[in-house]
Amino acid sequence: PKITLTVIKADIGGYVGHCSVHPELIEEAKKVMEEKGKGLLEDYVVTNVGDDINLIMTHRKGVDSPDIHKLAWDTFLSCTQVAKRLKLYGAGQDLLSDSFSGNIKGMGPGVAEMEFEERPSEPVIVFMADKTEPGAWNLPLYRMFADPFNTIGLVIDPKMHDGFKFEVLDTIENKKVVFSCPEEIYDMLVFLGASNRFAVKAVYNKKGEPAAVSSTQRMNLMAGRYVGKDDPVLIVRCQNGFPAVGEALEPFANPHLVAGWMRGSHFGPLMPVSCKDATPSRFDGPPRVVALGFQLAEGKLVGPQDMFADVAFDKARQKALKIADYLRQLGPFEPHRLPLDEMEYTTMPQVMEKLKERFE
Ligand code: 13P
Ligand code: 13P
Ligand code: MG
Ligand code: MG
Ligand code: MG
Repeated sequence: PKITLTVIKADIGGYVGHCSVHPELIEEAKKVMEEKGKGLLEDYVVTNVGDDINLIMTHRKGVDSPDIHKLAWDTFLSCTQVAKRLKLYGAGQDLLSDSFSGNIKGMGPGVAEMEFEERPSEPVIVFMADKTEPGAWNLPLYRMFADPFNTIGLVIDPKMHDGFKFEVLDTIENKKVVFSCPEEIYDMLVFLGASNRFAVKAVYNKKGEPAAVSSTQRMNLMAGRYVGKDDPVLIVRCQNGFPAVGEALEPFANPHLVAGWMRGSHFGPLMPVSCKDATPSRFDGPPRVVALGFQLAEGKLVGPQDMFADVAFDKARQKALKIADYLRQLGPFEPHRLPLDEMEYTTMPQVMEKLKERFE
């Protein structure tokens, strides 16, 4: 029977501000998963990056399972009670709907899941980012699955040599397009480079087997604001026809600029960190990414290994901090601050209204 790996995340309330998740929320999430996950889950891990709780689950129910999505929803609801009692910042903010309708997608939480035949050895990496958006995965996914200067396997591994297919979502029009690589990389890069709008939803090998899947959801206008663009997760299968573990991690050794950071309205470098350093506080950032490695064994999550804890990523962190210093000096100016139409916060309409008589 196939195994499904599901990662569902939500910001249930920050501790302190948007920095982290309070330990009581993690405890509560584990309690609910333990009780309600019995007979449903093969295994689970509860973790966090910054202020986002991540539920990593394995099961035999396939993708889009109402049972699994309800378990996550119920877990986040219970956590919301704790968050409200502790008056954590933005308690329950990602639970935008009052009643659960069977699928958690488009309700606030982010979802990445894939179903596959577990191989004789099945290494997977769960990447989880805070203070950014799903388009943040575009550049690293391109490097992992289409760039031979990152992934030598594309050149020397007969099982990778045919390349991969990228499923790209237009998050505004809610349409998807599939590109076959390497044949179509020039066409594809027109879209991937516009990572505020187009985001890689999934990568498949040419046999159609899933290699990677992200929590890219279409943008939903709910509660009068955009959702489904938040703090993303990404699952990548590794080795034996997929990128080696080190090839999957390598794109993060050179921190790229992503949208997010303070008030979701600034560009900043995506800094790879260990779990213990996933507490963005400087100007609410800079944006963080952690990578948890697992070996699946009959559906059990053997791990995690905290992949970016490796000292070999120290220089990437130093580089990110240098870039952060430089960008911060620009203060409210672009290109540190996002363009007007991409900010999560803006006073533009009010200021325009106030000054409209003075424009001549
Ligand atoms: P080992 O020789 O340590 O097994 O590594 C093999 C490999 O392919 C590393 O990318
Ligand atoms: P989060 O998306 O992580 O909640 O951060 C929001 C924010 O405004 C940070 O300044
Ligand atoms: Mg938050
Ligand atoms: Mg967050
Ligand atoms: Mg965010």
